[in-house]
Amino acid sequence: MEDCRRESKANPDSATYFRPPARKWFRCFALASAFFLCSAAALPATTPPPKQPDDQHLADPTAGSKFVGADTCKGCHSDIYEKNFANTPHAALLKDGKHGCEDCHGAGSAHVDGGGDKTKIIVFSSLSPAEASRRCMVCHQSNLENSAFSQSVHLSQGVGCLSCHSPHHAAAPEALLIKSQTQLCYGCHAQQKAEFARPYRHRVDVGLIKCSDCHNPHGSFHDRQLRSADGGMEVCTKCHSEKVGPFSFEHMPVKQEGCGGCHTPHGSTNPRQLRVSQVNMLCLQCHSPIANRDTPEAPSFHNQSAKYQACTLCHTQIHGSNFDEFFFR
Ligand code: HEC
Ligand code: HEC
Ligand code: HEC
Ligand code: HEC
Ligand code: HEC
Ligand code: HEC
Ligand code: HEC
Ligand code: HEC
Ligand code: HEC
Ligand code: HEC
Repeated sequence: MEDCRRESKANPDSATYFRPPARKWFRCFALASAFFLCSAAALPATTPPPKQPDDQHLADPTAGSKFVGADTCKGCHSDIYEKNFANTPHAALLKDGKHGCEDCHGAGSAHVDGGGDKTKIIVFSSLSPAEASRRCMVCHQSNLENSAFSQSVHLSQGVGCLSCHSPHHAAAPEALLIKSQTQLCYGCHAQQKAEFARPYRHRVDVGLIKCSDCHNPHGSFHDRQLRSADGGMEVCTKCHSEKVGPFSFEHMPVKQEGCGGCHTPHGSTNPRQLRVSQVNMLCLQCHSPIANRDTPEAPSFHNQSAKYQACTLCHTQIHGSNFDEFFFR
């Protein structure tokens, strides 16, 4: 279904001739109808996911057990203690009266008394993504970074903490990730991988910028798990602050459409990550008699001879200017 949803989305590079106010409506409508069609098409083929046990009331196998301390666990699990715990950030759980291993696996006395009874300890591999994540959230929920996780698109699609992190077997140095970030995301997001392979792109491949600079993989309160609203401005201007002004002479679409009105954030086949291949085609989407009554037409001496095609040759400060209402400087 996700694939269907992706494919039915308009190609971001195709020249969409839009009017500023109507475009968003169109996009919403297109998305909504695409989503509806996909859902309908996918229905007969999809069996409902197996019902998860009600996480809230899941029996705790360690209920009634007492804490025995990490040194006891170490007695039988010295390998994991030495190689996969003591050298990780979670070793912090050995201090300040915390319970070490048992903070995650639950109190261990019954497990130990049973000589390693697996039914008396929390085994993460047998938990649903939601239940496993809930155990992590006990400590990490309060972190702003994770505060939207329970409502995130990721969790709703069965992507839990352990899809990306591993407390004992992390393979990347940062944040206990199972793979380096870019490879991790690409593993599930093939379409975005293709977008970042286009010639004009944000270079996530060499680590110049990360997916998590713009998205919060733990969910956010904005569309597309973006770090700020509307794909538009803030998410971009924390790095490209010079593009947002405030300017004495604003170019209205920058404020109204956001950066995504003219650029594709991931990558593009057009220079400057533009949505269309020629700058004049981009400008004339709005600055032409047929486009929009509120937008001034390019003056009549702007014939479309080669000289006038590269509009930004003269109108260089296209994001806004403090000196010139026509963005010449
Ligand atoms: C931060 C939570 C957390 C802490 C603390 C923790 N574990 Fe784990 N443990 C997990 C998770 C999650 C898994 C599932 C495998 C994974 O994702 O790394 C796991 C898996 C295991 C396994 C299964 C074998 C394996 O290698 O996956 C054993 C045994 C284990 N833990 C023992 C311990 C012991 C002993 C300690 C203390 C030295 C400990 N754990 C501390 C979360 C934790
Ligand atoms: C007396 C030895 C002993 C002690 C002490 C002990 N365990 Fe175990 N534990 C075992 C054995 C043996 C197994 C494997 C059981 C099996 O495979 O059926 C096991 C399995 C586990 C598993 C499940 C691993 C899996 O297969 O995914 C976890 C988690 C675990 N132990 C955590 C702990 C924690 C936490 C402590 C400390 C509270 C602890 N153990 C103390 C012997 C011990
Ligand atoms: C009992 C509290 C507790 C639980 C439960 C817990 N953590 Fe942690 N976690 C910590 C502490 C303490 C640290 C280290 C200090 C810090 O960086 O905040 C930490 C650090 C981390 C880090 C950051 C590592 C880094 O390099 O910055 C990740 C990722 C993480 N935990 C994931 C998990 C996952 C996944 C689970 C569930 C399997 C989990 N934690 C369960 C307390 C906990
Ligand atoms: C889709 C993948 C993904 C999922 C799911 C995910 N994380 Fe993360 N997490 C990441 C990435 C990537 C980073 C590194 C972010 C960065 O470097 O900007 C990270 C960073 C962290 C950190 C360290 C940074 C911080 O916020 O202090 C913690 C702690 C953490 N995650 C905990 C969790 C917990 C707990 C869960 C489940 C509730 C979870 N993560 C679910 C990908 C994920
Ligand atoms: C420069 C900021 C930026 C970076 C870096 C970035 N994204 Fe995005 N991403 C966006 C914006 C903005 C949107 C919303 C586009 C829209 O709504 O038209 C988006 C949308 C998405 C979507 C939703 C589907 C879609 O295309 O609308 C996914 C999935 C996604 N990004 C994954 C990723 C992954 C994976 C990475 C890293 C490999 C990444 N993004 C890096 C800004 C970024
Ligand atoms: C285990 C698979 C998996 C991993 C790993 C993963 N994702 Fe996702 N992601 C999904 C699924 C499934 C969806 C929901 C369907 C979709 O939109 O593609 C999703 C959705 C998204 C969305 C769109 C949310 C929306 O509102 O439509 C963004 C953005 C995103 N992921 C970013 C990331 C980033 C960044 C990473 C790496 C840190 C990452 N994902 C890692 C599976 C994954
Ligand atoms: C974390 C910082 C960061 C964020 C956030 C960011 N960018 Fe960038 N951007 C860069 C860097 C660095 C480059 C230069 C890339 C290179 O040289 O490969 C760049 C390049 C670009 C370019 C191409 C410039 C050229 O000369 O070809 C455009 C267009 C662009 N970004 C637009 C955006 C938009 C739109 C957003 C928001 C969706 C955004 N950026 C968010 C850092 C960022
Ligand atoms: C009205 C369309 C439009 C909007 C909206 C727009 N841009 Fe641009 N942008 C362009 C054009 C056209 C170019 C190419 C200029 C050139 O060829 O000299 C460009 C170039 C760029 C460049 C690379 C060249 C440079 O001047 O550094 C960056 C970075 C950039 N834009 C970022 C942004 C950001 C960030 C936003 C949102 C705040 C944004 N743009 C909004 C049309 C737009
Ligand atoms: C999404 C629609 C849109 C796009 C694309 C667009 N513009 Fe504009 N442009 C506007 C609007 C709206 C105004 C503001 C008119 C006003 O202030 O009354 C404007 C104003 C201008 C002005 C100032 C006109 C005046 O009378 O002050 C110039 C010059 C201009 N644009 C050039 C360009 C160029 C060059 C491009 C291509 C790089 C471009 N525009 C792309 C909508 C657009
Ligand atoms: C050779 C330089 C040059 C190029 C290239 C150029 N312009 Fe202009 N543009 C001008 C001049 C000069 C003016 C008039 C300024 C004035 O009235 O003082 C102007 C004015 C405008 C205005 C304002 C009209 C009004 O009535 O307010 C718009 C809109 C505009 N140009 C759009 C474009 C577009 C779109 C392109 C590309 C197709 C383009 N320009 C290419 C020089 C240029």
